[in-house]
Amino acid sequence: MNENYFMSKSSTEPYLIPFDAIGSDKIGFITVAQGLLDIPFEIKRVYWTYHTPNKVIRGGHAHKNLQQIIFSVSGKIIIRTEKFGTGKAEFVLDNPSVGLYLPPNTWRQIEFFNPAVLLCLASDYYKENDYIRSYQDFLQAQENR
Ligand code: TYD
Repeated sequence: MNENYFMSKSSTEPYLIPFDAIGSDKIGFITVAQGLLDIPFEIKRVYWTYHTPNKVIRGGHAHKNLQQIIFSVSGKIIIRTEKFGTGKAEFVLDNPSVGLYLPPNTWRQIEFFNPAVLLCLASDYYKENDYIRSYQDFLQAQENR
């Protein structure tokens, strides 16, 4: 992993992280993400989603403090993000060696293209009170910053 990549990025914005793909077409590949080495936080939780029907859109929330890195380890997902001040962005994840860093206070909608498998590395345990689930509350929270 190129450490300069982190240093050149502001962690207040979502950004793609290219990880090494170790292997070859002949035998396949391994990609590794190590907390505080390849990624900018300690990993406290891992979750994955699967069997999501084609074109389903999930997400529709932000987190107050949580940092995440999301991969599509199989298939394709599109993540649309919004940050107050810098606006909206769209990221296509269709390469298992590329992750998307999502900083706190990022509204996201995630579109799944069957049979996508999303893998998430998260900086904290599941806490429902870390969620902002209402878009109005998200806008309000940003305006009050
Ligand atoms: P949620 O984060 O709302 O996912 P999405 O926005 O994609 O629908 O989670 C869906 C449900 O799963 C919700 O009831 C909370 C539960 N959940 C946990 O219990 N633990 C977890 O770590 C996560 C990510 C979700």
